[in-house]
Amino acid sequence: MAKRVCVIGTGYVGSVTGAVLAELGHQVTCVDSNNEKIQQFANGPPFPLSEPGLPELIMKHRGKNLFFTTDLPGIISKSEVVFVCVSTPTKMEGIATGSFDMTYVDSVARSIAAHSRGDMVVVEKSTVPLRTAERIEEIFNSVSSPSQRGKFHVVSNPEFLAEGTAVKDALQPDRILVGTRPNDEYARKFMNELYSSFPSEVILHTMIWSSELAKLANNAFLSTKITQINAIASLCDCSGADVTEVSKAVGMDNRIGNKFLAAGIGWGGSCFGKDVRALIYLLRHFNLEAEARFYQAAHDLNYLLRERFVRRIHESLYSLPNKTVAVLGFAFKPNTDDIRDSPAIDIISMLAAEGANVRVVDPEAGHKVKQVYGDKPFAYNILVVESVAEAVDGADAMVLVTDWDEFKNLDFKAIAAKMKKPGWVFDGRNICTPSKVVVSGLNYYGVGRGVIRTQS
Ligand code: UGA
Repeated sequence: MAKRVCVIGTGYVGSVTGAVLAELGHQVTCVDSNNEKIQQFANGPPFPLSEPGLPELIMKHRGKNLFFTTDLPGIISKSEVVFVCVSTPTKMEGIATGSFDMTYVDSVARSIAAHSRGDMVVVEKSTVPLRTAERIEEIFNSVSSPSQRGKFHVVSNPEFLAEGTAVKDALQPDRILVGTRPNDEYARKFMNELYSSFPSEVILHTMIWSSELAKLANNAFLSTKITQINAIASLCDCSGADVTEVSKAVGMDNRIGNKFLAAGIGWGGSCFGKDVRALIYLLRHFNLEAEARFYQAAHDLNYLLRERFVRRIHESLYSLPNKTVAVLGFAFKPNTDDIRDSPAIDIISMLAAEGANVRVVDPEAGHKVKQVYGDKPFAYNILVVESVAEAVDGADAMVLVTDWDEFKNLDFKAIAAKMKKPGWVFDGRNICTPSKVVVSGLNYYGVGRGVIRTQS
């Protein structure tokens, strides 16, 4: 049976959640306090964010069973379930630095408490700290009217969507995790009905604290797996081994698996850094210092890789002032225009601050370059261009930062002809075939693959 759903927050999580719930047949309204964003969703394309498959879903359901509004009280009062998809950024200063900033969740919980009518399932979809449900319940119990008390059912249903494949991930999930309070049969039944389009074995019911923690644990596993292969890559660089071969060998052990073993300049994005920092905070909160140090080391190594990569470029080019460096990629990963915590930002900043002239090309995120560097003293060193050919024209080096498909089969002969000599390719994502690069007359460095010099 179709449910009346309200989705609060129209970032990546909220917009995809809303569109997918509409695709499942529910009556969905997405709410955001940002009117400009809501107008774009209501009237676009263009939409406020780029995610494959999302525009098609929005246009298929908009005006039928998918709506966009800024009227939070109005829509809460008409809904039977609210998905909380507001952002929970890292708290960067003051008390509890490193933990999640819960300002938006707190404020949304108060609105839900004030405007709900009858039984209301409140779903934690954003990544939240452990035992957030308890805090939300406390707000409900103190703010809502006496007749509403006992009618709230807080559920943890974290998202496991990866940007670039979020719509596909949501429509073909590995699992749908549903954490509920003991004895809350209403919530369990409601969530089963909400997700009745999926086979029942995909739905995993747990206690609510396990579900909240599983989301953090999931991202901790994935990010530390990448950091592990990157640590091995550093050893490869010193020893002559090739990390892509080591990674293939290790990944064929089916206890380990071959995913998230691509070595390079490390992870970025809005999730891994934030969640690992929150986990470290949580562990320290419980005096689990040794465990906190484990994740802290992985976190610190991840960010050190960016600096080390630039040091490698500096060392190879001897000096950076007045050198021209073509940077391929600005998004934190392919198939998105999201640049949050993108390694490209740190790498470009370091290159430009050292005096290099940087030309940036990215299929979707190029327009965001100005937003990031506009007011920096070295901003005049950074130019956004439209094509790889333009970026490498007269360049001393080409630096691959994002593994877009467009950058995977480059014509290195043509590129070498445009670049200065000795030209360099620094492959931060190990997407080139080194032999094709060096045969074209360019020197090559891949993370964990060492330096291969051209014979010409
Ligand atoms: C990640 C998780 O994969 C999702 O399951 C989770 O739902 C999401 O965070 C979230 O918490 O919202 P996402 O950050 O979109 O998704 O992207 P990933 O595909 O996980 O990539 C993260 C970073 O790791 C990227 O910078 C990527 O380039 C890097 N990466 C990934 C590697 O360096 N090596 C790999 O082998 C894989």
